[in-house]
Amino acid sequence: MKIDVCFTPNDFTSKDYYGYHAVVIDVLRATTSIATACANGCQCVIPVKTVEEAFSLKAKNPDAVLAGERSGLLIPGFNLGNSPFEYTKDQIYGKTIVMTTTNGTLALNKVAAAQKIYVMAFANAASIVTALHQAQENTIIVCAGSEGKFSLEDALCAGLAADCLSHEAKLSDTALAAQAMYRDFAADLFARVSQSSHADYLCNIGFEKDVALCLKQDTIAVVPVFAANAITA
Ligand code: MLT
Repeated sequence: MKIDVCFTPNDFTSKDYYGYHAVVIDVLRATTSIATACANGCQCVIPVKTVEEAFSLKAKNPDAVLAGERSGLLIPGFNLGNSPFEYTKDQIYGKTIVMTTTNGTLALNKVAAAQKIYVMAFANAASIVTALHQAQENTIIVCAGSEGKFSLEDALCAGLAADCLSHEAKLSDTALAAQAMYRDFAADLFARVSQSSHADYLCNIGFEKDVALCLKQDTIAVVPVFAANAITA
């Protein structure tokens, strides 16, 4: 099994990773919120690229919950923002969630043609590592990053997966770099990631608790899989 890492979605092409399984990571906050929604019993999450697409799906399915963010904030006319605290059983149990976020749902759509697609965050890291261990397939881990740029927290989560699988997988150069970064930062993850630009931005707009929650490891046992346009547990 090979493990490779794309530090931004721009580094991913379907041709380069033909036949690979994919893992998409957007720790702050899209993949943490999706994992939470799946663990709390939503029917599925449909990740879309634009607000217009979300409204058009809602028109066809009036019971759907519209969720996501622009600039980290609730989108006018939407039911939920992108805080994992919002995805409670009361809000989403049995519901179809149509979600659009700045980076996370874009990254998911970029890899949509991959053989199998997992959704990972620190919150469900152990579950995803176990699934990858069981699958024994070549895997590309795609970090959602931030508007096309490198994001520290996503790279560190990719590094955690690479580290856990390093005894049984051949790591690419980027996977080795992510692993080294993770090993260096792991003991003080919260303090180190708090300095990242998106963590700083979220804290400035009042989401400090989200940052703390998203950096907690293995709080949820769930393997969200994206197939046929929808993510299900
Ligand atoms: C994204 O997809 O860009 C993020 O999840 C943004 C956010 O923190 O809400």
